[in-house]
Amino acid sequence: MIICYLGLGSNLGDRQQNIRLALQHIGSLKNTKLVRISGIYETDPCNCPPGSPRFLNLTAKIKTNLSPLSLLNELKVLESDLGRKDERKNSSRPIDLDILFYGNKKINSPRLKIPHPRLKERSFVLKPLKEIAPSLIKSLAKEAKVISHIEAMRKYAAKVKSSGKTIGFVPTMGYLHPGHLSLVRQAKKDCDICLVSIFVNPIQFGPQEDYKKYPRDLEVDSILAKSAGGDCVFYPQAKDMYGLGYSTYVNVEKKTDYLCGASRPGHFRGVTTVVAKLFNIIQPDIAYFGQKDFQQALVIKKMVKDLNMPLKIKVMPIVRDSDGLALSSRNVYLSAQERSDALVLSRSLQKAKEIIFGGERKAGKIIAAMRNEISRKKSARIDYTAIADVETLEPLEYVKQKALIALAVYFGKTRLIDNIIVG
Ligand code: PAF
Repeated sequence: MIICYLGLGSNLGDRQQNIRLALQHIGSLKNTKLVRISGIYETDPCNCPPGSPRFLNLTAKIKTNLSPLSLLNELKVLESDLGRKDERKNSSRPIDLDILFYGNKKINSPRLKIPHPRLKERSFVLKPLKEIAPSLIKSLAKEAKVISHIEAMRKYAAKVKSSGKTIGFVPTMGYLHPGHLSLVRQAKKDCDICLVSIFVNPIQFGPQEDYKKYPRDLEVDSILAKSAGGDCVFYPQAKDMYGLGYSTYVNVEKKTDYLCGASRPGHFRGVTTVVAKLFNIIQPDIAYFGQKDFQQALVIKKMVKDLNMPLKIKVMPIVRDSDGLALSSRNVYLSAQERSDALVLSRSLQKAKEIIFGGERKAGKIIAAMRNEISRKKSARIDYTAIADVETLEPLEYVKQKALIALAVYFGKTRLIDNIIVG
């Protein structure tokens, strides 16, 4: 019998029940045995029309004597039996069944491609697959270039630059989501080589913060980074970045007095220190940051300007789930209830925008409306809500020109941030 891995997804009707039924049917296919299933992962629809419901995904290991095409045919029949009517790619569906792997076989026919061609782009496939086939994920991860030693990274980057090529650099703390991957894609578009760093930087976390439990998955991250266009992942160790007796820090003043700087003392000192070190090691031409961390991007731009660092900073738009939640590695901490409550972040920002377009200019009134909306959510505890100047980050009394509306809110123990620019 051949070992196969299947991907199952559902975003219409009773999604759990659809998956249960599909698994039952798969287990009862002739000459086929269901061996193992992963946990269920809820994710945003991928390339589906706007407003499509979220998916439940899982992977299954089966053993079968069916040929790849017979298995595909059986799965198609099952999809249609379970109510899939719309055959168009990416349409909403009670059940979607994909063959991810069929033994070691490689197939590239118009009807069937194995291994599944988009497997490596999708964390909602890679993560459940890792649960039931860790060695498969390990071997996929080995295809990506990962450098852990600082000197080796420096040499690699210097060689790229001396060959006349440009480097686009995406610094991250890993647990990559489509927001990070949008930066990787942009870097690869703009530059010859794209480098991605993955380093959970201990010195930007406060003593009571989530450094230890911050989610980490180098294998899945390196597969995702490579499939988005990353040429190399830099994965330094904390003991090498901050050796014994380490004592040099970069501190940007003023802009760090407000917003996250006020509620997370020392945070930006940790960020600018590590980013300056990474810039020194890699010497990128362009570095990419997301607008979700608006203050971080502004502080880094200021550091680059003040310290005459020879690179450009590019800030890319916030990537959101289809229901408005800004993507963050920390979203994995949220319970279903907290995630649903957290939708109030983008809703309250939109509300603030509407109030401003409706003619209200007093920051106090706009903030009060936002806080009112947020406080109605049981799991929400506001850290700050602010309307600020987009350059200095000083609080504004009136919204007369371009302004930043930013907030940080705890949902249970998870602190999320979001923002928009108005005007
Ligand atoms: O935004 C982040 O993930 C981090 O703050 C950064 C810029 C990678 C520095 O550790």
